[in-house]
Amino acid sequence: MTAGPPGGRYGEAVFPPGQAGEGERIDFGALAYDDVTMARLRALGAGPGWQCLDVGAGTGTVARRLLEEAGVAGVLAVDRDVRFLGERPGLEVLRADVTGPDFAPGRRFRLVHARFVLMHLPERERVVAALAEHVEPGGVLVLSDAVDLTSDRAPRTPYADAMRAMWQGLRATIGTDVSWVPSYPQVLRAAGLGSVAAEVHVPPLVPGSPISRFWADTWERSRAAMLGTGLVDDAAVDAAVRYLDSAECAALSAGMLTAWGRKPEDAARG
Ligand SMILES: C[S@@+](CC[C@H](N)C(=O)[O-])C[C@H]1O[C@@H](n2cnc3c(N)ncnc32)[C@H](O)[C@@H]1O
Repeated sequence: MTAGPPGGRYGEAVFPPGQAGEGERIDFGALAYDDVTMARLRALGAGPGWQCLDVGAGTGTVARRLLEEAGVAGVLAVDRDVRFLGERPGLEVLRADVTGPDFAPGRRFRLVHARFVLMHLPERERVVAALAEHVEPGGVLVLSDAVDLTSDRAPRTPYADAMRAMWQGLRATIGTDVSWVPSYPQVLRAAGLGSVAAEVHVPPLVPGSPISRFWADTWERSRAAMLGTGLVDDAAVDAAVRYLDSAECAALSAGMLTAWGRKPEDAARG
């Protein structure tokens, strides 16, 4: 058996759901990205009659909007921890680890959606193949994850230093890896899906905006992992939080890459 990441998995040493404010942190991310996600899902046809699977559903904002705005027939919202998922007509909640061998929803879906989940999972290639199995013929698999836009040539700012330390620290502790995200279109092709395409959205880092608050909160919660890289100290993280909230801030947020692919109509029915 191979050893897992030293910090355990997402939700264990880093981002435990029981820590005060973790639901609010997820909601800041959702506020920054939900409109873009919903526009894409609706453009792909999500609407009346659709049965949907939302993987790693978090606080359930996408599941809720699929039901209330897009008018889909039902959403199965799956998460390792379902404490933030409420009850509403059409919403079915399942506590499960999607990497586990026993994750078997028992039916196929017109839409399978996973946002900001796969990048945290070490077994991501196998999980994408398994998620493709849960898509019905003619249905779509939609994956969204972060793309890091702080290159080695980006100017040194408190923000860029903190971002580098965060990605490196999360990779070293819980195995998060965003370097793989730009290859999602090819990964979807390899999983047997067609009509593959992708887009990137970068929310503006305006002081006080949901995305700025999301990063500041994310740094607080991953501070130990960031310090462990040796790239930043406490003062540097504090400076980055102040920088994000200041008129000096001039930086690019990580983007959200969304890639999708459709299962051929003639694929075998399960
Ligand atoms: C960053 S949050 C994203 C939540 C939501 N998808 C969104 O975009 O607002 C990641 C979510 O994935 C869940 N998660 C992480 N690993 C998981 C796994 N192996 N199986 C099921 N859910 C998982 C976490 O509990 C958390 O709710």
